[in-house]
Amino acid sequence: ATNRTFTMLKPDAVEKGHIGAILEQINASGFRIVAMKLTQMTKNDAETFYAVHKERPFFGELVEFMTRGPIVAAILEKENAVEDFRTLIGATNPEEAAEGTIRKKYASSVGENAVHGSDSDENAEIESSFHFAGREMF
Ligand code: CMP
Repeated sequence: ATNRTFTMLKPDAVEKGHIGAILEQINASGFRIVAMKLTQMTKNDAETFYAVHKERPFFGELVEFMTRGPIVAAILEKENAVEDFRTLIGATNPEEAAEGTIRKKYASSVGENAVHGSDSDENAEIESSFHFAGREMF
């Protein structure tokens, strides 16, 4: 069935001027953008959004990175959205990402990996409503 996933083009991708190219690839892969904005996460936002990682050694670095500049937050719709989007972005570590994937093309490291994709339908819903009000979804 048609469903939705949540994505962020992370500060590294925005800084390098890759917004257009990444959105082009997302559209060309059959995803419909149902919500989108340029925004910047506060420290509190990032700590809340990534709460599941708070005991990890990289947590501080992750919060620092995700708050250092604007991101593009978006909700994407497609059949099998969560799984297909994770295939499109590739492995967390760009060195392990498949050829042609967004992370292979635009990510520089496991931390600065260009793009986020929800890992489940449940998290897609939680992450979408973290960033968007109902009237911002189309
Ligand atoms: P993402 O899967 O979008 O959400 C969790 C993020 O934590 C992940 O992307 C990476 O940006 C970051 N991350 C995961 N593993 C590491 C690591 N070993 N070192 C630094 N950052 C990491």
